[in-house]
Amino acid sequence: MAGTVSYVKPATETAAPPRFGSDHPMREVTRRIAADDRWWPERAPMVTAAFDELSVDWHETHSTELRLVPLEDGLDRGEIGGGRVVELGCGTGAGTERIARRMPLAAAVDISAGMLARADRALAPFVRADASALPFSAGSVDVLMLVNMFLFAAEADRVLAAAGRLVWVNTMGSETPIYLPPEAVVDALPGRWTAVAGYAGEGLWCVARRS
Ligand SMILES: C[S@@+](CC[C@H](N)C(=O)[O-])C[C@H]1O[C@@H](n2cnc3c(N)ncnc32)[C@H](O)[C@@H]1O
Repeated sequence: MAGTVSYVKPATETAAPPRFGSDHPMREVTRRIAADDRWWPERAPMVTAAFDELSVDWHETHSTELRLVPLEDGLDRGEIGGGRVVELGCGTGAGTERIARRMPLAAAVDISAGMLARADRALAPFVRADASALPFSAGSVDVLMLVNMFLFAAEADRVLAAAGRLVWVNTMGSETPIYLPPEAVVDALPGRWTAVAGYAGEGLWCVARRS
């Protein structure tokens, strides 16, 4: 165990502990990438094509109020701070819109051209890039936001400043296809990390920083 996670009390009555049972194929992809991102390059074209296809009706199904409760709660109670904020795997911008209400984003990144084509350009500078090889210099990002996004741990560690925060949100908790429990997030990151986490709505959030 490389890090520790403490939990805040659920903020809302609908908050629920994780349920078990998602065997979505993205679950395995998520675990493998977090364990070793050398697994990714060969699969990147296939996964990108899948998200391009999903982008057609993504926004309607993924921007509901309930889905965004965990992100809002993390932004409220995660002591995220500010600075240079970058979102990874922004999709069509459902989470981007909520983040941008609170703090300006330096960039919202996604690998899928289809997803980005459907995002509201006014929210942030949208950048098409691969989160395994980001176009940012080492230590140049203060906050990395990941909402239902794969964890490329080494690259996140590279771009985050010494006091940087990594915000992990699973909008449907353990039912989210791209899911890792907060303990697995801190364990995947290089070195020692400490996180605060909470359940909200149907999901969870976690804010990790170096110990
Ligand atoms: C499950 S979706 C989540 C989208 C959005 N955050 C949301 O919650 O609606 C994952 C997103 O991550 C993007 N993605 C997957 N791998 C990526 C990578 N290596 N670099 C950047 N974006 C990636 C996909 O294209 C997709 O838009």
